[in-house]
Amino acid sequence: MTPKRITREDIREMVRQATVVHDSVRAEMLAPHPRKIAPRFTATQIAEIVGIDRVKVDNKLRSPQYPVGQIALGKRRRTFDLAETREIVARLDSFPKREAGTPGFTMSCVNFKGGSTKTSTVFNLAQGLALRGRKVLLIDLDPQASASTLTGLMPHTELSEADTAGLLYSMDTGDAQPDLNYAIRKTYWDGLDIVPSCGSLNSAELILPQMAANPKRDWWNVLNEALATHRLEYDYILIDTAPSLSYLAVNAAYASDGLLMPLPPEQLDFSAALVFWDMVLELMDSIYTARGVEKDFKFIGVVLSKVTTRPVSVMMKGFIQRAFTQYVVTTEIPASEANTISGLTFGTIHDLVDDDGVARATTKLRQGFDRLVDLVDSSAVANNWGA
Ligand SMILES: Nc1ncnc2c1ncn2[C@@H]1O[C@H](COP(=O)(O)OP(=O)(O)OP(=O)(O)O)[C@@H](O)[C@H]1O
Ligand SMILES: [Mg+2]
Repeated sequence: MTPKRITREDIREMVRQATVVHDSVRAEMLAPHPRKIAPRFTATQIAEIVGIDRVKVDNKLRSPQYPVGQIALGKRRRTFDLAETREIVARLDSFPKREAGTPGFTMSCVNFKGGSTKTSTVFNLAQGLALRGRKVLLIDLDPQASASTLTGLMPHTELSEADTAGLLYSMDTGDAQPDLNYAIRKTYWDGLDIVPSCGSLNSAELILPQMAANPKRDWWNVLNEALATHRLEYDYILIDTAPSLSYLAVNAAYASDGLLMPLPPEQLDFSAALVFWDMVLELMDSIYTARGVEKDFKFIGVVLSKVTTRPVSVMMKGFIQRAFTQYVVTTEIPASEANTISGLTFGTIHDLVDDDGVARATTKLRQGFDRLVDLVDSSAVANNWGA
């Protein structure tokens, strides 16, 4: 008997079937809202964001210049939507503003080990910075499109290459775009815009090596050049990259003022991180040797992620701190079930509302991200943003 072979047609059928199931699961999870909506915020939460006493915030909110919010039927607390929250935060004037003409800060989340929490980290960071009133552009440079999915988009069925950063890398001069204006879209999270991704972005990985073969093309610099105008508009441009040192990831790094590497304290992650930085260095050396181009960064941060109190995790943390010294940032992201709860609803910890019944379970994770937001924002301000 000839063993059965799995053909292209079988795979086509598998993809068709999986797409139907995936999209209906997503619709069920997000019901009754087919698109995501951001949670509402209380005065207490706003006081926490700006680090001001709750009573002071209450007093300010009595002034007619401030948004009035809403009291839901049967509830006592007044709540504010995200746009109102951002307006209140801006009026309270707790965070130094970026001056007009100063470029915003661009940072890529990198690590070629899969599942090291790049997407979760960069997305929470984007949400947290927007909550502070910052204007954030998130560029999804990973064809897996996880960050895009977190905004409620359905990359597989809704998006094509023309919706992604892919047109920056088009060989067809008719299609090629000089900047990302064509692809920037608003998200459900006020203050956060996205350039989404989808599987077709992977074609850039085939085109970039062809560009690299042409000594006249600065293949590593395509995204950097495309971001010039956007930097003046956004306080932050954050880039989510694929789990590889791909051509696109190199483009992200060369466009960035900062690199953030989330690193779970596990043996294999630690070893892979070392290989990653070694490869980054080799690449920077080769671009310098071949083209005489230098690159430096204002910020490089290794953030311990999915940290547990298990002895092996504590031991690995010690090794990582000894190995990466001053680059290990002073905050860490704990491993948390809460992430799984929010993950189930195509969201992050920032998407959970108080009455989701998980508030206590989320506290540590929230605190970890709050500190990371503070650390990145303080660093950008102290280093005069992307100037
Ligand atoms: N703090 C956390 N605690 C526990 N699990 C987490 C935490 N943060 C993220 N995760 C889970 O870890 C998995 C990987 O996270 P994520 O997708 O953010 O990683 P990634 O580095 O972007 O992955 P990839 O390399 O595939 O792009 C996800 O299932 C996510 O829900
Ligand atoms: Mg990811």
